[in-house]
Amino acid sequence: MTDGGDGGKDLMGAEFVVVANRLPVDLERLPDGTQRWKHSPGGLVTALEPMLRSREGAWVGWPGLADADLDPLVEDGLKLHPVRLSAQDVEDYYEGFSNSTLWPLYHDVVAPPAYHRHWWQAYVRVNKRFAKVVAEVAAPGATVWIQDYQLQLLPAELRTLRPDLRIGFFLHIPFPPTELFKQLPWRDRIIEGLLGADLVGFHTPGGARNFRQLATNLTAATPGHGRNQVVYGGRTVKVGAFPISIDSAALAELSRSPQVQDRARQIRADLGDPERVILGVDRLDYTKGINVRLLGLEELLAEGRIDAENVVMVQLATPSRERVEHYRRMRNDIEQSVGRINGEYARVGHPVLHYLHQSLPRDELAAFFVAADVMLVTPLRDGMNLVAKEYVACRSDLGGVLVLSEFTGAAIELKDAVLVNPHDTDGVKNALYAALTMSSDEGRRRMRALRRQVMTHDVDRWARSFLDALGLPAPEENPDG
Ligand code: ADP
Ligand code: G6P
Repeated sequence: MTDGGDGGKDLMGAEFVVVANRLPVDLERLPDGTQRWKHSPGGLVTALEPMLRSREGAWVGWPGLADADLDPLVEDGLKLHPVRLSAQDVEDYYEGFSNSTLWPLYHDVVAPPAYHRHWWQAYVRVNKRFAKVVAEVAAPGATVWIQDYQLQLLPAELRTLRPDLRIGFFLHIPFPPTELFKQLPWRDRIIEGLLGADLVGFHTPGGARNFRQLATNLTAATPGHGRNQVVYGGRTVKVGAFPISIDSAALAELSRSPQVQDRARQIRADLGDPERVILGVDRLDYTKGINVRLLGLEELLAEGRIDAENVVMVQLATPSRERVEHYRRMRNDIEQSVGRINGEYARVGHPVLHYLHQSLPRDELAAFFVAADVMLVTPLRDGMNLVAKEYVACRSDLGGVLVLSEFTGAAIELKDAVLVNPHDTDGVKNALYAALTMSSDEGRRRMRALRRQVMTHDVDRWARSFLDALGLPAPEENPDG
């Protein structure tokens, strides 16, 4: 780690700033009192990190620990500007309003959202704090790209402090239907906050439509000339759909490396060289429908349609938001199911279901993707789901079958997956069975089509299309860049 030397003053004056609740790295305090940085969880960081590197921007965000006072620093080549959150902020703004109010509300209320005024007050307070930090970091006329649901008040707060900035906002999770959004007691304030941006981006056209409707319903905004804009406070605010993606070529290359290929063979051997390996990879989140797929597996075993001697499943689950009640409960439920399924169908030395509550390094994850015959992605609702795209990027051999929930943003692009309704247990079960028994010709045909989409629509294309719409030239065309 290197810091700015003079407390980071030489890191100020950034022309391009990404702001997200989290920095791309998390500070971890080890039991011996030392600290180290580790990769932050989730799709937002996976997607944005390569983009920020190529544009040499700065990143403003929380270092993942309460009460951490840190100066701006450079870590692994990235310019980082930490924002301090107190233990109370973490409880009320992060675990409370962000992850117990907005997260369930925006994911179709698959868990009931809680509405508490002191959580809202913390959300306002922390968004204002982020605005102050960004206002100090950004150069005159800089472009600031704000990310995700934790910072929806930031566009307007920042515009008040720094009207010279060009401000983009992108939401990484679904934007809910208007009738659900209207449950939120502070609904007008959120929409007004977002309208502070010059461009508001969503994964899907449906999200953009919901936002335009709410803006014209709940605030003084009026429809603009084009379908993709509204007018608010005398300014035009563009609104559009920008489906996010991954660094497809880099991941494909990693997956083809001899080390990853060897490791994939080793994984299959460690699993007992079964005929079929099924894989699930998720942050441990109740929106991901992990229980749905475990039930499908269990019923297929119970009905004797598959045999634990020939089929093995691996579920990798990154620990996530562990102090939030819904997450605790779901973890218990899943771990009980894992125990029940193995209790019933495993034999000594040969579990039918392997469950790792761990975050794995990129190359190890790629090896699991290469090793898996069937990838199960079954969220009840997901803004995009990058795991589905990662699996496809790792299958240049055209092997493997992707089973994908219709309720993910990815399903709009990945039509050649085996699409399922995660609320329909029989449907999931039959889709899993179809994937396990699919002919190799059919599998290859589907994978070829999926790869055409994923390899040509990568994260760089996503970032370019958003930043083009925001009016920022691409790095090589930028005379100062
Ligand atoms: P979300 O952003 O909701 O977590 P995504 O599927 O869009 O969902 O992104 C998840 C990201 O986290 C992907 O890049 C995926 O590879 C990574 N990931 C998920 N589970 C693990 C794990 N157990 N170990 C390492 N990375 C993981
Ligand atoms: C999703 C969200 C991100 C979030 C990530 C990890 O990808 O869209 O904003 O950072 O999950 O969640 P966490 O709460 O650990 O930051």
